[in-house]
Amino acid sequence: MALVHGPPGYDRLASDVSWDAAYLEFRPPERVYTLDELGEEAAGPNAFSPVAITEPFRFLTDEGVRVLQEICAELEGSARGSDRIPKFVRGGVYRSEFLWGLATDPKLIAWLRELAQAPIEPHPVSHHAVHINYAPDDLSLNVDQWHADITSFDYVLMVTDPHDMKGGRFEYFFGPVEEGKALLERDGELPADRVRSPQFPGPGWAIFQQGHRVLHRATRLEEPHERVTIVGSFFTPHPQIDDPTATTMPRLRRVDGDAIALVEGSRFAAVAAARKLERFAAATADFDRPPEDLRTALRESIADVERMLAEFDREPEPPIAAPVGRR
Ligand SMILES: [Fe+2]
Repeated sequence: MALVHGPPGYDRLASDVSWDAAYLEFRPPERVYTLDELGEEAAGPNAFSPVAITEPFRFLTDEGVRVLQEICAELEGSARGSDRIPKFVRGGVYRSEFLWGLATDPKLIAWLRELAQAPIEPHPVSHHAVHINYAPDDLSLNVDQWHADITSFDYVLMVTDPHDMKGGRFEYFFGPVEEGKALLERDGELPADRVRSPQFPGPGWAIFQQGHRVLHRATRLEEPHERVTIVGSFFTPHPQIDDPTATTMPRLRRVDGDAIALVEGSRFAAVAAARKLERFAAATADFDRPPEDLRTALRESIADVERMLAEFDREPEPPIAAPVGRR
């Protein structure tokens, strides 16, 4: 497969190799926690399935992990930092056939779809599809702050070997996002007995989560150690619930800039609306429905496109991400 055409300057990496489904090796997680287990309110009105978060599992072979380590090491030279994450790289799928394959492989998506219990698809915002976090050089900074994701489902894959790593823990709040945010606001921290930290047994292990409904972070390193994770996100079409990406376009514009975000946002709007229009054609456009209902439903089907068109009319906001140096 040829490299997908990316933004200017997104050249193919020297370390890149073609994707091959033979890099996949599925080992189901031992445990999947449901939102109900996190608390009565944890699902909220916009959960796509009962799934909250899994225990760590593997889905890549050792050779797949080795390739990924080289690709991530090369990409570190393009790292940026934002208000929330000190060191990250997005858009690697445009510079690597391997990463593009990782983001779109039908076998992987089908397998993760079962884990998600939701009809996830490759993310139309390719900058969300593969986002790479690096531990910052400044050890006082967390790798990532407490947050819920602006994507529906994602995995967090440990790329580097976590053996002997002090700190750099992936943590999540065992409770509803809103309760966790309120506790952080009030106390500045979360009760230790409600914070869980899955142990990644080695490189190539991942957790999978309904990230917009799970409050999580990655803590600072307590001593220097290599720490690279891939956050791979997916899009979820749903008859009633908007994928969180639909309403977070202003942040995408601030993080990635308009040259990226207006293109990827338009692609997202097109795919989201297409799914809604397909459903409209199959289930809503029938002869028993009063014309006013039809019109309302048809208009609702294109809401993602209307919302994105409005973005073109809004002034660009100041960027919140800037390049950072190689460690
Ligand atoms: Fe996240």
